[in-house]
Amino acid sequence: DTVHVLNGPNLNLLGTREPGIYGAATLADVEALCRAEGAQLGFDIVFRQTNSEGALVDFIQEARGARGIVLNAAAYTHTSVALRDAVSAVGVPTIEVHLSNVFAREAFRHQSFLSPVARGVICGFGPQSYVLGLRAIASLPPSS
Ligand code: DQA
Repeated sequence: DTVHVLNGPNLNLLGTREPGIYGAATLADVEALCRAEGAQLGFDIVFRQTNSEGALVDFIQEARGARGIVLNAAAYTHTSVALRDAVSAVGVPTIEVHLSNVFAREAFRHQSFLSPVARGVICGFGPQSYVLGLRAIASLPPSS
């Protein structure tokens, strides 16, 4: 089974970006963690990042037929109807993840367009949020 791990804007800067909030791990470190966990769970991992909203819509569409999506849409979480519609359209169980605990931060981060169409949400555990997202997909009966 294939699981797509999709990353939105500014996550390419992990490691140097506001390390007090996002930590010292780079996106390559997060990818390595996901690939290791994927191997444990028997998933082939497709790991992608883009800074552009339309490309993220394309990535979600390209995950059609996958076992699951782990999605850190970053700032687009709080702004994008297009991403929400893409998640609804593909019908692939999607776990919304965030490195930081968005509910402990600014009010504008408490609103997510994605949460209502996500299978579930994990935030606040740093790179481990992604690992927990993969485990959440593994825990679901196939295509629920
Ligand atoms: C984030 C939280 C978002 O509010 C923020 O815009 C990000 C990263 C996180 O992983 O904690 O870019 O999704």
